[in-house]
Amino acid sequence: MDTGLKTPVLPAGEAAVAAAAACLASGGLVGFPTETVYGLGADAANPEAVARLYLAKGRPSFNPLIAHVGDLEAARRIGRFDARALALAEAFWPGPLTLVLPKTRECTVTDLATAGLDTVAIRVPAHPVARAILRAFGGPVVAPSANLSGHVSPTTAAHVLADLGGRIDLIVDGGAVAVGVESTIIGCFEAPMLLRPGGLPRGEIERVLGRALLAPPDEAGSDTAQPLAPGMLASHYAPRAVVRLNATGVEAGEALLAFGPVSVPGADAATAVMNLSARGDLTEAAAHLFGYLRALDAGGAHAIAVTPIPHHGLGEAINDRLRRAAMGRD
Ligand code: TXA
Ligand code: MG
Repeated sequence: MDTGLKTPVLPAGEAAVAAAAACLASGGLVGFPTETVYGLGADAANPEAVARLYLAKGRPSFNPLIAHVGDLEAARRIGRFDARALALAEAFWPGPLTLVLPKTRECTVTDLATAGLDTVAIRVPAHPVARAILRAFGGPVVAPSANLSGHVSPTTAAHVLADLGGRIDLIVDGGAVAVGVESTIIGCFEAPMLLRPGGLPRGEIERVLGRALLAPPDEAGSDTAQPLAPGMLASHYAPRAVVRLNATGVEAGEALLAFGPVSVPGADAATAVMNLSARGDLTEAAAHLFGYLRALDAGGAHAIAVTPIPHHGLGEAINDRLRRAAMGRD
């Protein structure tokens, strides 16, 4: 879908926020920063706008979207909170946490955005620009990551422009994001379930709940399953290059994506070397992950060797995204 439009990029500020809200109100598509990754926003209550959003991303329409709202009160208008969901919202919103809840009867999020499920995914983002846009617009905004479906998620406005320029109406540039991986998604079912590891580490959630999160059933991560978290398509976050995980050395022609103060045999001959966090900090590594994958791709690497990354804290989300990147695309 090349509309021939040149997508304007406005620096974050009052004018950009007003333009974004007006654009959403008229059914348009707006790329904007959140603290996790850039989102592609549309009016959640407008089925034509949501249909355009799926088309612009090339996203399968059976993969539902997250509704972003300004506060818990707005969230309670669209989702039914039990005591546990309320405890999580109060502990972690605004922030990188999405809750999947039963829809309320008056939920305005269009069926297309929830893929016909009787649940809705809700998040209250913390980024000041996202919050200002939500306030100015006044209703729920659905926003998937602002990348072409299956591609690496965007952490700068330039990434959004590279994927979606000419396909969307406006991009608001709020600089590089802070967290760098998408929100953690919790299914608030009979027992709370970790549907997607993300920017809020599992341990913090389990501490508030006082219990371990369930893992989703195996099939939830496959391409064919009728999804619990339908977006957990096995292959996702994929750069063009082949990604090789848990590398202990660099093979001929590979680029190296390292973590920590490691020395990797063959690194001298790597076509490019980037370190997610030379000091071994997982928060810093998450913030760099998608940008570095894009940079190595843009540098023409045909394969990327990735050194092992610890699995605790944000490492669970980083390893999840890398595993999906390594599955490649068809
Ligand atoms: O950090 C984030 O969550 C970013 C920013 C922009 O907010 N958004 C994001 O959206 O990552 P997206 O569309 O890339 O991922 C949304 C995930 C998908 O895996 C989708 O299947 C899942 O949320 N999801 C949405 N509604 C759901 C529902 N009712 N039940 C289960 N999973 C749902
Ligand atoms: Mg995404």
